Amino acid sequence: MKLTATFAILGSAALSMVAAQTGSFTNFTNIATAPTQFTATSVSLSPVPLCVQKTCLTLIGNLSTPITQGARNSVTGRWLDRLVYTDTQDLCAVLAANGTPCPIAAGAITLNVCHPMRSMTPRNFPIIYQYIITNGDGGLLLAQRANTSLSAKDCP
Ligand SMILES: *[C@@H]1O[C@H](CO)[C@@H](O)[C@H](O)[C@H]1NC(C)=O
Ligand SMILES: *[C@@H]1O[C@H](CO)[C@@H](O)[C@H](O)[C@H]1NC(C)=O
Ligand SMILES: *[C@@H]1O[C@H](CO)[C@@H](O)[C@H](O)[C@H]1NC(C)=O
Repeated sequence: MKLTATFAILGSAALSMVAAQTGSFTNFTNIATAPTQFTATSVSLSPVPLCVQKTCLTLIGNLSTPITQGARNSVTGRWLDRLVYTDTQDLCAVLAANGTPCPIAAGAITLNVCHPMRSMTPRNFPIIYQYIITNGDGGLLLAQRANTSLSAKDCP
């Protein structure tokens, strides 16, 4: 109850900042501590504001190792250091639904990882999203953080 009230107060303050953003969000920070199997030239999220029904993480870059079955996309979101969003997806299932089934061959790639946001997502709050994508072989493909005020709303 108390937490809900706090969300409501800070949420209205964040609203105008969130509403000002349009298009896609590209200011990701690479948080991997070692080389990754995917070398990104661009990581972006769209639409902005994020859409509950379907949000896309678009990855452009080079893949050193094919993406195989068992790859996972783990998404977390933090609001004021609190874990408020968590979702782990079967990456190959998501990619297959987007028309690019695994295996994804090594080399230059553009991948659209489009999926619904979970309904537990707080709406209109500044969230720091973190994407950790691991390959079927257990290797790290990508670890990126979006440090911004992104919220998920119903699609227009
Ligand atoms: C991009 O993110 C970094 C790290 O959070 C931040 O310092 C910088 O101001 C951001 N740039 C833009 C254009 O928002
Ligand atoms: C992209 O990855 C492939 C496969 O590992 C490699 O042969 C190629 O040199 C890489 N290209 C660049 C530009 O890094
Ligand atoms: C987010 O960016 C702000 C400003 O650039 C910075 O002070 C803060 O430490 C960053 N937070 C994280 C978790 O990277």
